Amino acid sequence: MCGIVGYVGDKESAPILVSGLKKLEYRGYDSAGVAVVSRNTLNVVRATGKLRNLENRVSQEEPKGTIGIGHTRWATHGRPSDENAHPHSYKGVAVVHNGIIENHLALKAELRARGHHFSSETDTEVFAHLISDELDSGRDLPEAVRQAIKQVKGTYALAVVCSSDPNRIVCTKDASPMVLGLGEGQNFVASDVPALLEHTRDIVYMEEGDLAVVTAQGVALYNRQGQLVNRPTRRIDWTPMMAEKGGHKHFMHKEIWEQPRAVADTLRGRMLLSEGDVHFEGWSLSPEKVRALSKVTILACGTSWHSGIAGKHMIESLARIPVEVELASEFRYRDPIVDSTHLAIAISQSGETADTLAAFKEAKGRGATAMAICNVMGSAMTREADISVLTNAGPEIGVASTKAFTTQLVTLYMLAVKLGRMRGTLTVQQAQEHLTRLTEVPKMIEEVLKCETSVKRVARDFMSSQDFLFLGRGPMHPVALEGALKLKEISYIHAEGYAGGEMKHGPIALIDEKMPVVVIAPKQPHVAYEKIIGNIEEVRARGGKVIAIIDEDDTHVASLADDVIRIPPACALLAPVVATIPLQLLAYHVAEMRGNDVDQPRNLAKSVTVE
Ligand code: G6P
Repeated sequence: MCGIVGYVGDKESAPILVSGLKKLEYRGYDSAGVAVVSRNTLNVVRATGKLRNLENRVSQEEPKGTIGIGHTRWATHGRPSDENAHPHSYKGVAVVHNGIIENHLALKAELRARGHHFSSETDTEVFAHLISDELDSGRDLPEAVRQAIKQVKGTYALAVVCSSDPNRIVCTKDASPMVLGLGEGQNFVASDVPALLEHTRDIVYMEEGDLAVVTAQGVALYNRQGQLVNRPTRRIDWTPMMAEKGGHKHFMHKEIWEQPRAVADTLRGRMLLSEGDVHFEGWSLSPEKVRALSKVTILACGTSWHSGIAGKHMIESLARIPVEVELASEFRYRDPIVDSTHLAIAISQSGETADTLAAFKEAKGRGATAMAICNVMGSAMTREADISVLTNAGPEIGVASTKAFTTQLVTLYMLAVKLGRMRGTLTVQQAQEHLTRLTEVPKMIEEVLKCETSVKRVARDFMSSQDFLFLGRGPMHPVALEGALKLKEISYIHAEGYAGGEMKHGPIALIDEKMPVVVIAPKQPHVAYEKIIGNIEEVRARGGKVIAIIDEDDTHVASLADDVIRIPPACALLAPVVATIPLQLLAYHVAEMRGNDVDQPRNLAKSVTVE
């Protein structure tokens, strides 16, 4: 996730670019920059941190030029810094990029062998070098870009300007979004519509593999085969706020629906299927160290703690290391037993949660190897960590965490496979089977999102309930906890998540005909399917209402439950990813029907940086 803008016309471009970037700050805010061209001179201005830092620099330096590109960054490769901020430039070529180049290390090595020097840690910079080489070999700018992208594996939305060709922006996209805005004597490029609404409502959506040559007079669009094509112009009548939410009513809803893409980004470039292994950038644990690990301690709060519990099932089952999952706020005030054979993993969307950070420092200080699983590169936890693994979900704006959770789950699964291979508890073939399952997850999420209509019906039936109980066993236990947390966070309905076996030790006393009980019951042995059916019978016997999350082909539980929501079957360890999504939707629709402020629920904060 990053934001791109581009302008070509007869006005000074820098202020237009900065104001467009402001509308895209929701796509990233680690750093920002602009590159403008005037009379064969390229001026690049960049700044780390929020956009106002760039704004200040632009107003001091006043870069001149009526053509330019801009970028707001969500770091994936290289920490947030001025050097790593886009645009990246080389010999008069400036590029801005959204996406991930999987083969950037190999490309950098080849380019270095040809005498190139890199000034950033990013994957993006290779584009500037590749394009520059193509220009040197006599190609024009559009052809140079076309040849450069042929060498790249990964995803991109890319916009390029060049001092030797100062009247056009060339942009291209594959899997990352890019739109063109059509004006009179001026034209625009952007990652998303909100950046353009101030100037035009006539938008062309670029398709995969398209390349556009944008001048002040017009736009020429070519498909992947290089043929000139016509894409329809659409008139957008969204308000700017609607546009930022991509047409969804709330950021939370948008983020729920973004999960197939977010999970695909988490997996991208990391699955070494033929080797049966996982590649994590910056991985520095030796096989000896991994084999010598005696314990993994997961430290987290809130939703991230729930993903830690699911992670325990994954790591113990695939890598056979004992895992403890600790509430960070408790761990830090104990006298925990930690030594140098322990791996401490902090899981955090923000990387800034005060309790998790303090617990992480405590574990590291006592000798543990410190690994951060975070969504925000450059955050306090990634700075503290010996190894950081990014979840790559992109910025999450809704306070109730959704895509951050599911991307944490798939990251933990990849980690479990990697540790399993290094410890010899998984054969190559077993690892390949696990990785193949992981590649299917984005499609499964797309499938499960189709349940929204049935979820809405359930939400309508139970929106006035005062209490909810969520039950799950094995890997579905954290899903029950997360379902209950989501509901209470945004609907303000009292909800409890319980391990199915614990129902008889207390919650059963609460069950009466007013109590909806959400039972997460996919058909797997790990999930103790037979036992969870026992729970359902116990709830029914006391008049409680059963809402069951079940496999598509399950007829048995369907005959017992009052309502069912069907999900595609997944293996037990990955089922939490799929089974959580209906519960996110349930919380969302109940809250929405009750008229609550879904994105900013009362009393909560997105990132809790105080104790
Ligand atoms: C807050 C948020 C939760 C989040 C928790 C941990 O309570 O509202 O959604 O799960 O903090 O945040 P972290 O950024 O560390 O994952």
